[in-house]
Amino acid sequence: MHRSMRLAVVAAIAALSLQAVPAQAATTYEAENATVSQGAVESNHTGYSGTGFVNYDNTTGSYVEFAVDSPTAGPATLTLRYANGTSANRPMAIAVNGATTAKDFPGTGAWTTWQESSLTTTLNAGANTVRTTATTAEGGPNLDRLVLGAPSAAGTPVQANGQLTVCGVRLCNQSGKQIQLRGMSSHGLQWYYQCLNTASLDALANDWKADVLRISMYIQEDGYETNPRLFTDRVHNLIEQATARGMYAIIDWHMLDPGDPNYNLSRAKTFFTEIAQRHNGKNNLLYEIANEPSGVSWSTIRNYAHQIIPVIRQYDPEAPIIVGTRAWSSLGVSDGATETEVINNPVNAANIMYTFHFYAASHGSEYLNALSRAADRIPMFVTEFGTQEYTGDGSNNFTRSQQYLDLMAQKKISWVNWNFSDDERSGAVFTEGTCPGGPYAGTSRLKPAGAWIRDRIRTPDDF
Ligand code: GCU
Repeated sequence: MHRSMRLAVVAAIAALSLQAVPAQAATTYEAENATVSQGAVESNHTGYSGTGFVNYDNTTGSYVEFAVDSPTAGPATLTLRYANGTSANRPMAIAVNGATTAKDFPGTGAWTTWQESSLTTTLNAGANTVRTTATTAEGGPNLDRLVLGAPSAAGTPVQANGQLTVCGVRLCNQSGKQIQLRGMSSHGLQWYYQCLNTASLDALANDWKADVLRISMYIQEDGYETNPRLFTDRVHNLIEQATARGMYAIIDWHMLDPGDPNYNLSRAKTFFTEIAQRHNGKNNLLYEIANEPSGVSWSTIRNYAHQIIPVIRQYDPEAPIIVGTRAWSSLGVSDGATETEVINNPVNAANIMYTFHFYAASHGSEYLNALSRAADRIPMFVTEFGTQEYTGDGSNNFTRSQQYLDLMAQKKISWVNWNFSDDERSGAVFTEGTCPGGPYAGTSRLKPAGAWIRDRIRTPDDF
């Protein structure tokens, strides 16, 4: 995101500390032993576990509340087993210690056909409450049990693809298959950290079906430079949250103004050393070392890359590293140059990709054609784009956006959309005031750009 960022009021947020994912055994809580309000314990449909299940009264507000004991604080997976013999969804609000996520419970085909539905959440060490409340007049489904377990990455983008590597001019998964990742960028962590919580990240992973979260940490504009410890810890936390949900994480060093990445060189070395040291055992990281350089030549950016890449590789030799390009990562086009300066003088390191950013209402065919040509010669990653103007605001140009998306699908160029927040601009996917309470799943709180991009992220992956 470049130019004219308005300073947002920073909401007071309790700093989240890093929590390891607990390696806990699964614990079963039978619904018939939980607290039931407006419902009955029954056993007339076979296939339940324990001694029965709860039949919710057909009314809004009927609930089952489980007292869940967690050995440790941190990410956990809750799996609800249910049957719904009707053909209509029976949505419920899942409140974990009062923080609510909406969840669908579609028909299972019969009251004797039980299915499981999981969500990732964050638990406190010790006592927690999980209340599952019917939100429509039909009441909830029949609920058999709740199982608490460690987050499962089964079936997720990271489980399917594992460690990524750059293969020729493409991105490949652990089997050598060329893949495209699609996902969302956060807004600045100094402004919109409250949009990155258990429920919103669950929605991003499960409802939006995103493959990747870009963690956008500004350096200036009240960002990292003001409190390196706080912002590094926010990034640590978000890496854990993405990992728990089986998403890739792009660590975006969101340098912007001043536009010379060397201005923040020593800060970048400190930051990336700690990130790479702590997370080198993970297989889902990509490092984006310079968001949008400006006012400097490609060789200046390249020199910066040559100093940062070894710092990361010393601890994390496998992760792809994405290098920003001239003139706000336009491959030089916004300065009147072209992609040839990078093609003729590439970064001298392996497993490297190059950044391209565009805003479809501002950046027309000159930009589209440069991306298309570049992608045939060097590995490209669109780590940020918008359907509107380069300010992240103004009208959407969905027609041109679709041209970019078609090109990126054809050439397997991975992309990340700006941005997963509720700021007032048209490019922030949620309507103002959505954060922190949500709801984040579905389309009720999405602006037009949000609804458009959610549809395109949800399209099945070709993994
Ligand atoms: C039927 C069914 C119940 C179910 C109920 C409902 O009565 O037997 O088990 O709970 O429908 O609509 O909720």
